[in-house]
Amino acid sequence: MRPPTDPYLAVTHPDPYPFYAGLRARGGLHRIEGFDPWIAADGATVRAVLTSEHCRVRPLAEPIPPHLGGTAAGALFGRLVRMNDGGPFPTVKRALASSLEEMMSALEAESRRWSARLFAEPSIALLPTRALQLPVFVLGTLLGLPEDGLDACVQDVEAYVRSVVHSQAVSEGAASAARLTGRVEDCAQARPALLSRFSARMQEGGAPAELRTPNAVGLLTQAYEATAGLLGASLLAIARMPSLRTQLARRECTMEDVVREAARHESPVQNTRRFVHSRVSVAGQELEAGATVVVVLAAANRDPQENPRPDDFLPRRVDRRTFTFGLGTHACPGQRLAETMAVAAAEQVLASGLDLSPLSGPVTWRASTNTRILRGP
Ligand code: HEM
Repeated sequence: MRPPTDPYLAVTHPDPYPFYAGLRARGGLHRIEGFDPWIAADGATVRAVLTSEHCRVRPLAEPIPPHLGGTAAGALFGRLVRMNDGGPFPTVKRALASSLEEMMSALEAESRRWSARLFAEPSIALLPTRALQLPVFVLGTLLGLPEDGLDACVQDVEAYVRSVVHSQAVSEGAASAARLTGRVEDCAQARPALLSRFSARMQEGGAPAELRTPNAVGLLTQAYEATAGLLGASLLAIARMPSLRTQLARRECTMEDVVREAARHESPVQNTRRFVHSRVSVAGQELEAGATVVVVLAAANRDPQENPRPDDFLPRRVDRRTFTFGLGTHACPGQRLAETMAVAAAEQVLASGLDLSPLSGPVTWRASTNTRILRGP
């Protein structure tokens, strides 16, 4: 098997980890032939980049991807906390994080309820679709979206997410972004719990009200592929290491342990990016104005300086250091939610009696340059 030649191709490669070890071994911010961005792959450099005030989430001249300009998809993208630094966004982020925290017990109940419905039928072929539905169904319910519209929401989330990456998908993505925004707005009158808490926390912090709906929609779009990826990684680990089932049965570890180690070992989000607006030194390296840095979270997870025996899957790993959910100002506020959904779903899949052995051989991944999401055996 040929190794991948760059961090984007590594995302869907059968085994990107030896390539990542090579990137880590170079240390610091570096470049490789045929790939323009700078690369951060070892734990210390990834940490330095993600906590540097000079490393921004969007390029200076491109707050939104140009092909989304003037569309509802661009309006959504441009108002997300994920895509903005400074201004009112840190307040919106705090409001989002605390309202999600307050919803944890409801989220756990919805994760169990929806997992029982989505994964009742033991089918390997249905797994990837169901895994993508789960986060939208769970979070959509908490946002007050009517159950009979959730399937359509999944399609809209898919279309929007595609349109961000593929310029030819922009008209569908724009229509979907407009529908998602409209649906969340329509629900607001009924004051669903998550939306009401989010509004209240935003008001307390003095954040502009017009950022509420886009960031509520953003929960659906942010959670979508990454949560599906986490469930896939957890089930793959169980399929490939039959001893995990024994450990689970003997209560030597919990499903939560498995999901957390899967998040580290086979990170659903393999990389993220940062952009430098002016000439600056980061992690001891001069970067030119306009430079892009690819931050390889999945490589940092396996840095032996961070996690001893990094290639081993150890559900009871002590002091696990996980870069999967980012860190610093833009760290993911959905980590506990994602883990809770994945635990509920994985337990339901095992309870359904599904034979996972087809996943112990080669598998395929959804096309992507940053998320590693199981497509099927
Ligand atoms: C396994 C599942 C997930 C993974 C691996 C993941 C990973 C990440 C990462 C790496 C970031 C930071 C990106 C960066 O700094 O460049 C992030 C941000 C974010 N995630 Fe997640 N996420 C997951 C699930 C979720 C869920 C379930 C939600 C919502 C409930 C969510 C909401 C967000 C939001 C709103 C941000 C933006 C935060 C900010 O920019 O301040 N994520 N996520």
